[in-house]
Amino acid sequence: MTYIPGKKPKKGSHGGVIAALDIGSSKICCLIARAEDPAAIKVIGFGHTSSQGVRAGTIVNMEDAEAAIANAVHAAEQMAGVTAHDVFVNVSGGRPTSLTLGVEVAILDQEVTDVDLRRALAQGRAQYRIPENEVIHAIPVSYSLDGNRGIRDPRGMFGDRLGVQLHMVTAGSGSLRNLATCIGRCHLDIEGSAVSPYASGLASLVEDELDLGCTCIDLGGGTTSLAVFSEGNLVFTDCVPVGGSHVTSDIARGLATPLGHAERMKILHGNAMSSSADDREMITVPLVGEDERTQTNLVPKSQLVRIIRPRLEEIFELVRSRLEESGADALSGRRVVLTGGGAQLPGIRELAQQVLDKQVRIGRPSRVSGLPDAASGPAFATVAGLLTQATRQHTELTISSPSVAVPGSLMGRVGMWLREHL
Ligand SMILES: Nc1ncnc2c1ncn2[C@@H]1O[C@H](COP(=O)(O)OP(=O)(O)OP(=O)(O)O)[C@@H](O)[C@H]1O
Ligand SMILES: [Mg+2]
Repeated sequence: MTYIPGKKPKKGSHGGVIAALDIGSSKICCLIARAEDPAAIKVIGFGHTSSQGVRAGTIVNMEDAEAAIANAVHAAEQMAGVTAHDVFVNVSGGRPTSLTLGVEVAILDQEVTDVDLRRALAQGRAQYRIPENEVIHAIPVSYSLDGNRGIRDPRGMFGDRLGVQLHMVTAGSGSLRNLATCIGRCHLDIEGSAVSPYASGLASLVEDELDLGCTCIDLGGGTTSLAVFSEGNLVFTDCVPVGGSHVTSDIARGLATPLGHAERMKILHGNAMSSSADDREMITVPLVGEDERTQTNLVPKSQLVRIIRPRLEEIFELVRSRLEESGADALSGRRVVLTGGGAQLPGIRELAQQVLDKQVRIGRPSRVSGLPDAASGPAFATVAGLLTQATRQHTELTISSPSVAVPGSLMGRVGMWLREHL
């Protein structure tokens, strides 16, 4: 990852302590965990602050973002009683772009080894150069030998030509450099990164969903991002720059109420689906610029729902069209897992089900233990998924044969050892 200044990942040199940082548009949070065993990640520190200097997942004010990051990390360090030096961070800015690419390398009737897989990855990275972009992920999704497809692990097999289907995700170098600089100013190094919905999916999808095909949709504050998983791999990711904060602005505008109050109304009374009782339930709405004690409106809840619903429909329609246009819909199966703070809105599951015509459930971080209650909801899937990604990455860098990996687990999948890095 060339955008990370002067730092190479250290192989398991952390005494099993890892740190994850989610820089979101609404909140910035940090988890510190012990992970002696990749299957047993235990959170020991949590820090959380409202986001500053970040818009639609991109850092727009370095000083503000730096201060907020430092606050979140400091709080997590205090709770954990350790100092973080390296972090795994999410990437939301720089318009992450996804593409599947076929590469082929000559084996010349020899046995396929790790070296050949690394050569294929290097070739893919060299082939897929978008100006002003950096590669975030280069994930082998399937292999072929001499044109025979459907090979899950080619190592140890013989052939002339090894084909690898690579899923590449890139993002704009400028945004990534700003991210790295901001984190560097907090005296931290980036040890690894993952696009946000990939991390959210890793945290909240169960093995069957990862295998059979599933889309994780992360409804954040400034963005809604999606990641499609199939046969255990990330096969597509995209992001639309619309999220929960747009719903809040719509409420503020529609009811002429301050943004802070619109946010409270959404959380206390909001619903994505209407019900017959909505006309009878009246909500007090303070008006912008007026004295909250004397100048208020009374509006029926139905009016609030009529504002919330169209924006959410728009978001899910955008997601649906991104899935259809990319062709990823065919791989994504019938299941959707909703994460992100926006997934907490009552009725969101039903609405997503209607618009996307899929089975929808709300996802929470489920692969790590010791999460405090405040960090156990869907908004913390990204940061928890970064911990999972961190243990995968350490394993990827150190294991040399699949027999070392835990069978049947996320870690046991073929090709994990070099998925992300050369
Ligand atoms: N109980 C709730 N009901 C409805 N919406 C909620 C609830 N709690 C939080 N939200 C919304 O979730 C959004 C924040 O979600 P999240 O914390 O996942 O965003 P983020 O990760 O900071 O942003 P992004 O991923 O877009 O960069 C806000 O718009 C907030 O209004
Ligand atoms: Mg987020």
